[in-house]
Amino acid sequence: MAEGAARLSLAVALLVLGLKALAYLLTGSVALLSDALESLVNVAAALAALLALLRPGDEVVAAKGLFGQTIGLFGQVLSLMGVTVRYVDPEPEAVREALSAKTRAVFVETVANPALLVPDLEALATLAEEAGVALVVDNTFGAAGALCRPLAWGAHVVVESLTKWASGHGSVLGGAVLSRETELWRNYPQFLQPDLKGQIPWEALRARCFPERVRTLGLSLCGMALSPFNAYLLFQGLETVALRVARMSETARFLAERLQGHPKVKALRYPGLPEDPAHRNARKYLASGGPILTLDPRETIATMTSYIVQAATGDQPTGSTAYYALFAVGFTLFLLTLFLNILAQYVVERYRERYE
Ligand SMILES: Cc1ncc(COP(=O)(O)O)c(C=O)c1O
Repeated sequence: MAEGAARLSLAVALLVLGLKALAYLLTGSVALLSDALESLVNVAAALAALLALLRPGDEVVAAKGLFGQTIGLFGQVLSLMGVTVRYVDPEPEAVREALSAKTRAVFVETVANPALLVPDLEALATLAEEAGVALVVDNTFGAAGALCRPLAWGAHVVVESLTKWASGHGSVLGGAVLSRETELWRNYPQFLQPDLKGQIPWEALRARCFPERVRTLGLSLCGMALSPFNAYLLFQGLETVALRVARMSETARFLAERLQGHPKVKALRYPGLPEDPAHRNARKYLASGGPILTLDPRETIATMTSYIVQAATGDQPTGSTAYYALFAVGFTLFLLTLFLNILAQYVVERYRERYE
């Protein structure tokens, strides 16, 4: 019995330690500008943030072209709560037109995956503030703050996957919710009614009422907690995230410049290229063009990979005309050598008797 209790308290202590380590670390590294952070798993971060903001009958205005799983979350899970999501181009005018008295959140991605469009975060934040609704930004492609920090541009809430750049070694599934000091929560009925403790959240907690609700609904009641081991791995990864993302961005730019206009590439998108449709906003909001480019290949992925390797290294790609030409020359030389060898042997045999 005592042993069981000891094990349980050790597990709880480890969990708390993990969460604290992550909270400490992320508050320093990812969220210099935030006043709150919750650690969750994957797209659960978005769900936890929206659970805290929404009630049945509410609406969300979301950018067209969001990450597929997020669209699935909105269509299949939020709908169960009676929440409607309207999709519009993430242009301020289109968003303004879509807002209604029921809208409680505007949801966009810093760099949309896979559309690679960068919305005007500052304009959207101003618009949301005026309308009294939260601007929620999925900052996954903002690379854990190394590329973009939407809270600094006025976003009220940031959700992001830590699965990609934060850890950096494909070893962690994780997500985070960040928020900033704001008076906005006064507009949300859930913060003006007594909570489970009988407190009015806005009066008792002020700006912390939102992260507290995320913690209660997401972490405590739905169990969206990060494991202590993942927190430990993230702790290590975040030490180098800025360097890694800068290096990856250099590589992406290098490749984009070489593959742009390549005969085997139908279309290429990279926000760091001056002619890219996302370039103007990317210059304003991103520290660089970023580590992601997309392309529409004319060949299969396997063949395309060899062209990409060629663009990156200058090596001869397997499968190219030059490669086959080199192969043909080498093979001909081989046959010639073989033929000369046989001829030499024949000559030696033929004239051996004469000289013996
Ligand atoms: C914009 C965006 N949001 C959310 C996710 C989901 O993150 P995770 O893999 O941690 O569930 C991804 C994954 O690629 C993404 O690109």
